[in-house]
Amino acid sequence: GNEKTGYSYETLVETANFLLSRISEKPNIGIICGSGMGSYWKEGSLAESITDGVRIPYEDIPNFPISTVEGHHGQLVFGHIEGVSVVAMQGRFHYYEGYPLWKCCLPVRVMKLLGVKILIATNAAGGLNPNYKIGDLMIVRDHINMMGFAGNNPLHGPNDERFGPRFPPMNKAYNYEFRKIAKEVAKELNIDHIVREGVYTCLGGPNFETVAELNMLKMVGVDAVGMSTVHEVITARHCDIKVFGLSLITNECITNYDQDAEANHEEVLDVGRMRQEMLRKYVSCLVKKFSQA
Ligand code: 6GU
Repeated sequence: GNEKTGYSYETLVETANFLLSRISEKPNIGIICGSGMGSYWKEGSLAESITDGVRIPYEDIPNFPISTVEGHHGQLVFGHIEGVSVVAMQGRFHYYEGYPLWKCCLPVRVMKLLGVKILIATNAAGGLNPNYKIGDLMIVRDHINMMGFAGNNPLHGPNDERFGPRFPPMNKAYNYEFRKIAKEVAKELNIDHIVREGVYTCLGGPNFETVAELNMLKMVGVDAVGMSTVHEVITARHCDIKVFGLSLITNECITNYDQDAEANHEEVLDVGRMRQEMLRKYVSCLVKKFSQA
């Protein structure tokens, strides 16, 4: 592999071929399950509801990184949602675990080689927009690549044209048609009162932000803040996978010094659990509609 990205195109072809030898149908849609979508627990989550699923633990997949967070399941799930062939990542690779960004995003390129055309990236996020409430869902309209500003980018290093161009555009990162469909489906499911649309940013973590940091992010137009997704989306757009992003607002960002509350991981997981049935229904409908779009 090359020095910057640590793997070659051929290495990922090897990984893809291994996976293809285990499945009977290529997936059309890739789903990255964040908190609330079955990354931390099994019962009732979207990843668990995949019918006739073939489940392959990350540690069995050649060249794959291994999930380090306790309680993360760390497996690919191949199967069907609403009759559509999908692959779901149950557990993602976070930058704060110690992986470089290119490694966090390696599975996205493997998805591309498997034939994935659409990526649904979900996450848990803190709500910065004062109108957002805990438990709301935010359709990602756009992102701000804060880590990219500091020179950290999954595409850093030599470019392989077989994946995409040296200088990929990002102004249409989050597919317009998918966002429109997602708002229509929210109405149909009677959840439009909790579905928002806004700007997401990713910080490296693992600590939550200071009050001053959150106020800075608010000023530059961020609605929700998390620790994932942005680099995965950049990698997906680079190789021309269409993207839909969805954040579950799991906590309110504290933006003044009088508030006593503190962000914590338990709350993030609790809200995920609270919303998992709704998320399962919503994302299942989206998979069906996106595949027909
Ligand atoms: Cl407040 N910040 C970050 N970076 N990630 C989060 C969060 C906050 N809440 C959930 N995930």
